[in-house]
Amino acid sequence: MKRVVVTGAAGFIGSHFTKHLLQSHSDVNIICIDSLTYAGNFDNLKGEIKDPRLIFYKADILNKREIFEIFSRENPDTVINFAAESHVDRSIKDPEIFMNTNVMGVQNLLEACRECPVERFHQISTDEVYGDLTLDSHGKLFSENSILAPSGVYSASKASADLLALSYCKTYGIPVTVSRGANTYGPNQYPEKLIPLMIYRAMKNKSLPLYGKGINVRDWISVKDHCRGIVAVAERGRSGEIYNIGCGCEIDNITLVKRILDILGKPYSLIEFVEDRKGHDLRYAMDSTKAQKEIGWKALDDFDETFEKTVKWYAENKNWSEKIFSGEYLKLYKTDYSEYVLSV
Ligand code: NAD
Ligand code: TYD
Repeated sequence: MKRVVVTGAAGFIGSHFTKHLLQSHSDVNIICIDSLTYAGNFDNLKGEIKDPRLIFYKADILNKREIFEIFSRENPDTVINFAAESHVDRSIKDPEIFMNTNVMGVQNLLEACRECPVERFHQISTDEVYGDLTLDSHGKLFSENSILAPSGVYSASKASADLLALSYCKTYGIPVTVSRGANTYGPNQYPEKLIPLMIYRAMKNKSLPLYGKGINVRDWISVKDHCRGIVAVAERGRSGEIYNIGCGCEIDNITLVKRILDILGKPYSLIEFVEDRKGHDLRYAMDSTKAQKEIGWKALDDFDETFEKTVKWYAENKNWSEKIFSGEYLKLYKTDYSEYVLSV
């Protein structure tokens, strides 16, 4: 990886990935592409934006002209696509933009790769494409060969993108890999997702809305382990292949939220059970043996330690969340960082 396009670089995982790549690859040049939707936050890149190895385009993957122009100008050898609408609750309320960004946006990127050939197009996907497992299915795990059975529009759009990317590999010979990551936690996650939302509300002594009975189970992977997995797949994964990136840290929502309250020293009475999410998946769990055997990746972080550090990061960086809730973060690219923002 020498000239890498990272789409969705101002979001949660994309910004950590950008940081990770700059730290681990001295000879890399990163071309960030992000349209800065509500989920894109320039603060997430504040430590990296001045690095001469990085440039940032404010551009939309749905805009074919912009994407083709950037690809022909920058001539990338690798594309890592994080850009997506990523929040399940939003997909229930407003499904259309999910199909547009998560499917048509991916097609534009793939078309740009046909025009300007790359050595690797890597699509970031999710365990949610497999649908869910029942709560009593102990030990049962999804493998890369499990059938796709998405429950909602977000996961259906992600599954569609996986199939589309793999079809471009077969039909046009574009070297494609797909990684399906588990639920990811760490600093800088937009506070609409479970962990940052609950931390923020607990710090304000506000009620913590747990859907249904709080018994749904997720496999939680640290953002660092997820990023290491993505690098491993993009660099060493076989073209045309899918790799699960999970860590086997299965926890139900209520246990997770109680841990947050314990770390913050807040009472469990803040928990409030609210109406369940429509089509709420019960359990996600993946077998990641293929990644371990073929490309030598496995999760390294200790959950207890990394989770506590994450909770403390939000507690110590309240300003980061406050700028989001006040809307101030949306203007940062025009105010504090305008000199670093390119457009086409
Ligand atoms: P995020 O919502 O924090 O970030 C998404 C980024 O994409 C934002 O910066 C946003 O501005 C950008 N974006 C959205 N639409 C765009 C468009 N049309 N053009 C250009 N940029 C656009 O998401 P995240 O949690 O960092 O997830 C990143 C990827 O990882 C997604 O593809 C998601 O499906 C996948 N994933 C996430 C998780 C998780 O737990 N967060 C787990 C597995 C896979
Ligand atoms: P989320 O962070 O939205 O990730 P995903 O839906 O992709 O797994 O939610 C994680 C779990 O937390 C999921 O089971 C839904 C639940 N949840 C709540 O109970 N309350 C909330 O306010 C949110 C946002 C999520």
